[in-house]
Amino acid sequence: MPLHSVKSVTLGVPDVEAAAEFYRDFNLSETSPGVFATADGGEQLRLERSPVRRLLELTIAADDPDDVDRVASQLTALDVAVERDGNGQTVAAVDPGTSVRVRVEAAPRIEQDTVATTPYNGPGRIDRSGRSPRLVEPGEEPTARPRRLGHVVIGSTDLEPSYRFFLEGIGFKLSDQVSDKAFFMRCSTDHHNLALQQAPVPFLHHTSWQVQDVDEIGHGAQHLLAKDPARHVWGFGRHHIGSNFFWYFRDPAGNFVEYYADMDCILDDQLWEPGVFNGPAALYSWGPPPPPSFIRPDDLAELMAGLHTPKG
Ligand SMILES: [Fe+2]
Repeated sequence: MPLHSVKSVTLGVPDVEAAAEFYRDFNLSETSPGVFATADGGEQLRLERSPVRRLLELTIAADDPDDVDRVASQLTALDVAVERDGNGQTVAAVDPGTSVRVRVEAAPRIEQDTVATTPYNGPGRIDRSGRSPRLVEPGEEPTARPRRLGHVVIGSTDLEPSYRFFLEGIGFKLSDQVSDKAFFMRCSTDHHNLALQQAPVPFLHHTSWQVQDVDEIGHGAQHLLAKDPARHVWGFGRHHIGSNFFWYFRDPAGNFVEYYADMDCILDDQLWEPGVFNGPAALYSWGPPPPPSFIRPDDLAELMAGLHTPKG
């Protein structure tokens, strides 16, 4: 697949410093003010000031400039205006339904060290003896270590054209869908790197960050919630679409942020049949009931009003 990963996101937030404090606690590494790196993916989050919270830019990495050229042709065939940089390394275009500027950039693949399988004991099966090495030592601060940015979920006011923009224009593939209301799409071997959902206003639903395993999700949650329990949104649970374990939090701007582990991977497109899901399976396999605000964030009306506020 010539596209190979989500390279980075730029989030617009009203209060950059408040958001920065959250992402520090989320345990991303701040490399310069408002710029954050993951352990394996380098700088993947940039915060900029914006009157209302929004996803300003999404950058997708492709293998080489030929792939970037192909994306530019595909977008042009859809009558989408594209911007090219001087040396052909990037192409950028705005999807009107989501208001997101999408860049495709030729960039190296993210190399991840192979992490040893986490051993678990089970009935009739002892895969580890003695005390679990993942228990936290006295005085040790538990936390998660986000390895890379996995996916973003965004709302579109014009779902079908947004779907075509990402499918036929950028080159994502469909993995699964929720009736005709949401599309889960991939640009890598991850089950999804992007999900588009119908919404009354363009907005960022969540970003999602890969961690090692369920213990690390728990450690990360504990660390975030010790400082402010109101950061909790939904978790701990496991999705059905993508199968990932999840726990969701809220940053001070109102964006949801997910730690995830163990997502489905699609190595052979021929062996994956996209499914159409409805009801609870669209949301999760198990976990606590999702709060209504997860489905429809509390600030949507505010965001809609913000769209009509003079920018500044
Ligand atoms: Fe997610």
